[in-house]
Amino acid sequence: MSSSSESAMIVASELGSGAEPLVKAVQTLGLDKIQRHIFICADQTKPLCCSKEKSLEAWNYLKKRLAELKLDQPTPTQPGCTFRTKANCLRVCTQGPILVVYPDGVWYHSATPTVIERILQEHILGSQVVKEYVFLTHPLPDCFSGVPTEVKD
Ligand code: FES
Repeated sequence: MSSSSESAMIVASELGSGAEPLVKAVQTLGLDKIQRHIFICADQTKPLCCSKEKSLEAWNYLKKRLAELKLDQPTPTQPGCTFRTKANCLRVCTQGPILVVYPDGVWYHSATPTVIERILQEHILGSQVVKEYVFLTHPLPDCFSGVPTEVKD
């Protein structure tokens, strides 16, 4: 049985010629090593949950601290990594910045740098949600028991 990492590389390599940039992106970004994915509402087109400045401050803090804590790349001692994505709007549009951690499905409000630091230390590193700022916990259903073997058109 192959690991999810091996399976991810197999999918990329099966794309044929011209897929080298995708395979390289998988390797460079550690996409096949992602354990958690953080989305944060930032740099909004319509800043509704908080000001654009506040959202960008949160996004920049998240990026900086993930790098400083070496959580954004797999390392020999820590094979998994945490990916982060700046979402234009997570459609909650109140009490932001809004931040969600997958696959846990934990939604946080008021994700300022202070709160983000707690999320990183307590949730990402310590696997304990920061309850004071959670407004929903909804883990994604386990819809795949494995990696699909066939991609349909
Ligand atoms: S503007 Fe932040 S969630 Fe919509």
